[in-house]
Amino acid sequence: MSIRTLDDLLAEGVSGRRVLVRADLNVPLDKQTGDITDDGRIRAVLPTLGALVEAGAKVVVCSHLGRPKGAPDPQFSLRPVAGRLGELLGSRVHFATDTVGESARAAVEALADGEVALLENLRFNKGETSKDDAERGAFADQLAALGDAYVDDAFGAVHRKHASVHDVPARLPHVAGRLVLREVEVLSKLTGEPERPYVVVLGGSKVSDKLAVIEALLPTVDRLLIGGGMCFTFLKAQGHEVGSSLLEEEMVATCRNLLERSGNKILLPVDVVAADAFAPDAAHDTVPADGIPSKRVGLDIGPETVAGFAAALKGARTIFWNGPMGVFEMPAFAHGTRGVAEAIAKAEAFTVVGGGDSAAAVRALGLDESAFGHISTGGGASLEYLEGKTLPGIAALEN
Ligand code: 3PG
Ligand code: MG
Repeated sequence: MSIRTLDDLLAEGVSGRRVLVRADLNVPLDKQTGDITDDGRIRAVLPTLGALVEAGAKVVVCSHLGRPKGAPDPQFSLRPVAGRLGELLGSRVHFATDTVGESARAAVEALADGEVALLENLRFNKGETSKDDAERGAFADQLAALGDAYVDDAFGAVHRKHASVHDVPARLPHVAGRLVLREVEVLSKLTGEPERPYVVVLGGSKVSDKLAVIEALLPTVDRLLIGGGMCFTFLKAQGHEVGSSLLEEEMVATCRNLLERSGNKILLPVDVVAADAFAPDAAHDTVPADGIPSKRVGLDIGPETVAGFAAALKGARTIFWNGPMGVFEMPAFAHGTRGVAEAIAKAEAFTVVGGGDSAAAVRALGLDESAFGHISTGGGASLEYLEGKTLPGIAALEN
């Protein structure tokens, strides 16, 4: 890989230089209180930031949070993240109330060596996500003016062709941060020659989101276990009624085709937890996957399925898991995700948890993070990596 790394940059010396770090600080916030409910992504970028602080750089951190529409929107402010980042770094983090405006310029100007500033949400600016090269480029010019060198440590966003990810590295000396390097190192083991059996567990709500990765994985995996909301479209493809469970009608034929082509690789639930309503206190019970009552909604995989999945995972030597098995945020429907996560943790295998919801589930369910080989910070990014797609953020670092 022809990518320069943070160590290369540190070897050049960064003392007194402004180093612009693109991080993925897109953390989940509590809808009521606005509190950070999972700071995993903030902690994941500390090795890179810590090394730059230590080396006396003026560290300028930028990130997106949520999906604001190209204009300031207070519910997506990064201010609470600045506070948490400061606590974790053990030093104050200066916060700029805009991204490339007066506040940002002043904050960067005022930085002493070894200090850190966080800019306001990149996506408060239309140029960040614009599909128009010139509009993105103009924003990238402004952002690049705030640094003398660029570090990409935003693994969760490397699949986005956004200004801060794709266009800024074309304007500044650029390197990959510690997190991006580690993520790529781990995921390349899965696309290279994984030790077998190689078992993949997929969940989450939509088949359409996972179709490309299923297509890419089917020839390489030994087993593909499917749970979560997406399993109902597969169950329907098997000819079962799924009541009012999540269903992508237009994907049923595709799922049928996948099942036909997969030999016995794809394993589907044999029982599900079906509820009266999508609510934490809804009445519910376990029913066979081919007997979901018409008015009921499947919200988790059942215990027999967990046992079957656990048996398939037991002998695996390599495991990749992306997507919860049920609505794990509601305790009544968290057993499937917990059971499968525990089976993965117990397996004597190289285990990788794809980011996003599955990483959040590991922490929310209080599971021991160290029981997993690697917990990715990228949901979409890790899937696109496994699909073999060119990731704009990685490609930009290679140039
Ligand atoms: C994520 O949470 O998947 C990353 O931060 C990327 O966010 P996005 O899907 O809104 O681009
Ligand atoms: Mg996403």
